[in-house]
Amino acid sequence: MKKPLRVAITGAAGQICYSLIPRIASGEMFGADQPVILQLLEVPFEKPQQALKGVAMELDDCAFPLLQGVVLADDPMVAFKDADWCLLVGSKPRGPGMERKDLLLDNGKIFVGQGKAIDAVAAENVHVAVVGNPCNTNAWICAMSAPRVPKKNFSAMTRLDQNRAMSQLAAKAGVHSSAVTEAIIWGNHSATQYPDYYNAKIGGKPAPAVIGDEAWAKDVFIPTVQKRGAAIIDIAGASSRFSAANGLIDHVHSLVTPGSTVHSVAVWSNGDYGIDKDIMASFPVRTTGHGEWEVVKGYDLNALAKERIALSVKELKEEIAVVKEMLGSL
Ligand code: NAD
Ligand code: LMR
Repeated sequence: MKKPLRVAITGAAGQICYSLIPRIASGEMFGADQPVILQLLEVPFEKPQQALKGVAMELDDCAFPLLQGVVLADDPMVAFKDADWCLLVGSKPRGPGMERKDLLLDNGKIFVGQGKAIDAVAAENVHVAVVGNPCNTNAWICAMSAPRVPKKNFSAMTRLDQNRAMSQLAAKAGVHSSAVTEAIIWGNHSATQYPDYYNAKIGGKPAPAVIGDEAWAKDVFIPTVQKRGAAIIDIAGASSRFSAANGLIDHVHSLVTPGSTVHSVAVWSNGDYGIDKDIMASFPVRTTGHGEWEVVKGYDLNALAKERIALSVKELKEEIAVVKEMLGSL
């Protein structure tokens, strides 16, 4: 049997984690032959801690063959101890009328303390995936707070946006979503993200050749993907839950599966495609090893793409400026 991976998950009694945790325990994230030990963190208050105990009882009741242990924690130093992967979900979701960056003041500080704890106690080659919003900048805060950990080991989730883009393109082309590839998300997980119609493929052919409707791409496709999170909040009264959990399953599974197809991940920018260095921006990525990746080069960015990506990068830099003012030393 393989050595179990220690997987720390924050916000473990929250909505997303209720869909996420059983799927990790059943092998969907790390593979059907990879045992896991789950290290579940919740805030140190009675209600969430009781809810967390309920999650642990349900895990017992599933008798998952791959689950080799469960640690319940109210302290990040316990939850992140020797962790190979830290999945940072725990934080406040936005409500109607808010943008994700409005959460920065409340959620940003969580990622300072958690970054420091990861730096202090996590496994040598820990990987960190951030879901809590605004996820790009929270991942940036976490990375800056954990100087021991290479910046390339941090990521933030734009895979839900990619999956949304695939479904929209498939519906327009009248095909199944599995026929859509290279539906790249560039920039921030926010309303400024750039879902890339021009480089997407449908049945292996360029999306523009299959769909042939630039007005739809600009006026319908891009805004629909950009605002899908808000549309769900408006109609359901709560931010996306199982689709977010599913996005994180896909995000990490692709990152631990070398040779996986091109996928969208917000990573520490090295300046590829002219995007400013040292921000967490979404790029097309190819996995080269367990948690190792490279930005896929060679996509053509037309004038619209350049203009939209620049707007998203500007927003990311503004978020970092707010964080620096708020948190001082970062
Ligand atoms: P939720 O309120 O149901 O659950 C969040 C949980 O986190 C709560 O149980 C809370 O007690 C816990 N928590 C808060 N602070 C914590 C801390 N410091 N340590 C550990 N746990 C903590 O929210 P949810 O619906 O699960 O959403 C969680 C986050 O994910 C939100 O910020 C949401 O906006 C974000 N999100 C991101 C994406 C994405 O695509 N990146 C998609 C959906 C949701
Ligand atoms: C989403 O994209 O569904 C999440 O980021 C939740 C939100 O606030 O939109």
